[in-house]
Amino acid sequence: MTHLVTGASGLVGGTLYRHLKNNSSDNAVGTSYRHPAEGLHSLELLNTDLVTQFFKKFHPDIIFHAAAMGSADQCEKNQSLARSINVETTIHLAQLCRNINTLLVFYSSDYIFNGASGPYSEEDPAAPLNYYGQLKVLAEEAIRQILPDNHLIIRTTVIYGWESQGKNFAMSLINRLSHQEKILVPNDQTGTPTFVEDLAQGTLKLIEKKCRGIYHVAGPGLVSRYQFALEIASVFGLNERLIVPSATNKLGQIARRPLSAGLKTEKLRRDLNWLPQGCRQGLQAMKTMGNPYIIKKDFLHEPAR
Ligand SMILES: NC(=O)c1ccc[n+]([C@@H]2O[C@H](COP(=O)([O-])OP(=O)(O)OC[C@H]3O[C@@H](n4cnc5c(N)ncnc54)[C@H](OP(=O)(O)O)[C@@H]3O)[C@@H](O)[C@H]2O)c1
Repeated sequence: MTHLVTGASGLVGGTLYRHLKNNSSDNAVGTSYRHPAEGLHSLELLNTDLVTQFFKKFHPDIIFHAAAMGSADQCEKNQSLARSINVETTIHLAQLCRNINTLLVFYSSDYIFNGASGPYSEEDPAAPLNYYGQLKVLAEEAIRQILPDNHLIIRTTVIYGWESQGKNFAMSLINRLSHQEKILVPNDQTGTPTFVEDLAQGTLKLIEKKCRGIYHVAGPGLVSRYQFALEIASVFGLNERLIVPSATNKLGQIARRPLSAGLKTEKLRRDLNWLPQGCRQGLQAMKTMGNPYIIKKDFLHEPAR
């Protein structure tokens, strides 16, 4: 079997690629674009001819499509490019999958919901507040239409863990607190933080069980971003007094945020008899594991999600 991971230089794709390399005798192929890394193939997903050639060369049995413009604020600012990366490339990959009966695994988000009454189940209606969420809805719909029986849509949220670019909320917070920087954190956005190692494990368990359709894979605890930040500081022994709670509407974030967000995972528990860890446990596992990536010097300047 050949597993193709797009976005293998990112948080989700990188972790999944590592799990596939470590745990499986199958062939794992990973792609990057602006952040090359050892063992990864450079592939610009907007270049449809190159993607088609790549697909023909490797003939993957499963594509884990983790490449995306993942920042809601970037999507709001660069709408045309965001649509091309997050929707058009997904449609192209789905069409290639249909031709040779390849399973497409796609990562979506709780930002498809409006945040009026989270956490949300797989059956709740989508009503995105921002462009990133709208694009996820469009991509999900296209995948369901092109590959009605051969897709796995995994919705997840507030992912934390080690990554080479150091840009997720937890890594960014650890870095800033380590440098004694004060940081404003919203206390009115609630969600269900998800340890990236659990997301990779959950993805592979869903594949192993031949699950298809939509699944929520997220941590079990509902917390505000501020509580999550305090938990990070506590586990990593950092100064929590530098974390300042703030209302979302004072933060000047470009994209609107769903406030009462997060994902319910009953379907995951029922079908796999397994759930991701709560955030304290996940953060402790992250600390014990240590950072497997070499950090770029400039990661301090990457915006936190
Ligand atoms: N992080 C979260 O909290 C979160 C929550 C819910 C859902 N998700 C979804 O999960 C998926 C993975 O997110 P992530 O956090 O792992 O994102 P990420 O760390 O920002 O990684 C994005 C990846 O996409 C690649 N990429 C971007 N534009 C590309 C292009 N034009 N051609 C080829 N590759 C391109 C990047 O490659 P280079 O860096 O090498 O250019 C990188 O490997 C996304 O669909 C995201 O929306 C994430």
